[in-house]
Amino acid sequence: MIRSALMNVMTSAAIKAGRGLKRDLGEVENLQVSLKGPGDFVSAADKKAEKVLFEELNKARPGYGFLMEEQGAVEGSDKSHRWFIDPLDGTTNFLHGLPVFAVSIGLEREGQMIAGVVYNPATDEMYVAEKGQGAWLNNRRLRVAARNDFATALVGCGIPPLARAHHHPRFKEELSAVIARCGNVRRMGAASLDLAMVAAGRLDCYWERGLSPWDLAAGMVLVREAGGYVSDADGGERMLEAGSICVGNEQMHRALLATLKSA
Ligand code: IPD
Ligand code: CA
Ligand code: CA
Repeated sequence: MIRSALMNVMTSAAIKAGRGLKRDLGEVENLQVSLKGPGDFVSAADKKAEKVLFEELNKARPGYGFLMEEQGAVEGSDKSHRWFIDPLDGTTNFLHGLPVFAVSIGLEREGQMIAGVVYNPATDEMYVAEKGQGAWLNNRRLRVAARNDFATALVGCGIPPLARAHHHPRFKEELSAVIARCGNVRRMGAASLDLAMVAAGRLDCYWERGLSPWDLAAGMVLVREAGGYVSDADGGERMLEAGSICVGNEQMHRALLATLKSA
């Protein structure tokens, strides 16, 4: 575990927001059987979690800027620090009562992502990483998987939803190329957890397009600190700007990128 003041601040905020989400998940399960469904309730839960994170982080580190999914950007007086926040990553899972979702907090310093926390309150799994301090899952140090044969790789991906159907043609081409060469594919439904899974060696690699900075910020630090390679889905360094990601150990990352390129 990383015993730094910064990690304390980040994990405490994540636990506080996560406590509310875990409670709300119980209510979602009840609302599932109602005609109206849990849509409005989930959107309120999401906003409530973001408010908790904003208040906690702002209290602990006054002046830092914010980029949040719900509220957008909040300028800080300290121009060198910025929080990247997704209060509820995996909303669709949450809405369906699937316990695969997370609170995601990334911290940028001088334009570099230096710390990340991804917390799944349903399973109480806390993934943390800080530059130079490694990546951890609760008390266990993480390392990306050592597997190097793409033909046996378990590859994570993200499927664009109907609302983003314009991404479907490219996704289908890339998926066909990947399934023709890898062991098998998984779609978890929370980008921050996909990245955490690669850091933990549970997935060998992962790619996705059409993401936002708050989906990626924390997880990128986790993968790097677990010894993994991180690029955008075209092999460049513009992950946050391009909204795309490709991660894995050195060989898997190279094999996945080459496969995407061939699509
Ligand atoms: C989504 C999840 C999902 C990814 C989507 C994201 P949200 O975030 O990370 O896995 O495929 O593109 O937008 O909406 O649940 O916060
Ligand atoms: Ca998200
Ligand atoms: Ca979200």
